[in-house]
Amino acid sequence: MASPLKCLVQDDERYQKSFQLFLERSSEHRCMRDFIHNTLPDVLASVGKGKSQLNVIGVGSGAGTIDLEMLSQLRLKHPRVLVDNEVVEPSSQQLHKYRVMVGQKPDLDYIKFTWNEMTASEFEEQWRQKNITKKADFIHMIQMLYYVKDPEATIDFFQSLLDKNGKLLIILVSGESGWGKLGETFSSQLCNTEINQYVTTGDIKRLLDHRRVPYKSYELPSHWDITECFTDGDETGELMLDFLTQVVDFSNTAPPELRQGVLKLLRDPQCSVEKEGRVMFNSNMGVIVLDALG
Ligand SMILES: C[S@@+](CC[C@H](N)C(=O)[O-])C[C@H]1O[C@@H](n2cnc3c(N)ncnc32)[C@H](O)[C@@H]1O
Repeated sequence: MASPLKCLVQDDERYQKSFQLFLERSSEHRCMRDFIHNTLPDVLASVGKGKSQLNVIGVGSGAGTIDLEMLSQLRLKHPRVLVDNEVVEPSSQQLHKYRVMVGQKPDLDYIKFTWNEMTASEFEEQWRQKNITKKADFIHMIQMLYYVKDPEATIDFFQSLLDKNGKLLIILVSGESGWGKLGETFSSQLCNTEINQYVTTGDIKRLLDHRRVPYKSYELPSHWDITECFTDGDETGELMLDFLTQVVDFSNTAPPELRQGVLKLLRDPQCSVEKEGRVMFNSNMGVIVLDALG
């Protein structure tokens, strides 16, 4: 039966609030930064060899903090190139934050930003309609494939835009994370839109393996302190539960059995460990890197 619960991504205000809380209380961006500084430079080394301009597309960029970290690594690897950066982000609030941040950094004058306030599928439609033939050297989709109708088709489209030596970088939660367990157990009872809120790198790897598409992958261990979720009526806890379930006001709109089931699983060792009285949710991520189609 279809779930009557409202999907969080349909309420941008609340989505951004709960996402911000998630960033503040998890090691998400710290782990991504470690990856960007320690591993990404090697991935980017072969990108756009010999070119004077590199074309980049960021899909679901949010407020752009992670994008700018990656762009600075790209610059370090390719010091004299100009960058053409297409940003695809449907949240006007997030896009605004990104633009403001860029406006405050005059050293980014080697990058031309094009702001696309739209979803990945709208971007695809626009690209096809305008018959754009430009090829991309680096495309990234970081923690966003949950929100598209068909992750496989989205990957196929963006991979088809890669130039020779181009790379497509995908970051999603790992199949081995608490998110994976939550999805296996409850995805059918949580929100009912046509999105894939619990898709993991495990799912994507299975699809790619099945089609014999080569890729490289990395694991990024991460955790999230979700202790307040277990205090009835705690506002922070309720926002975190919204982000975990991707349901607006989950605590007050979900049937009691579903709420109890979710809380029980969140505390279970399959999802979390308890450390010094805090409940630390396993929020491990995975990275998948694809080359241009042969
Ligand atoms: C979890 S946030 C990740 C933001 C950023 N990449 C990061 O890692 O900090 C997901 C982002 O995807 C965006 N988004 C939601 N639906 C989308 C869609 N259909 N196409 C592209 N982006 C989408 C959201 O607005 C949000 O900024």
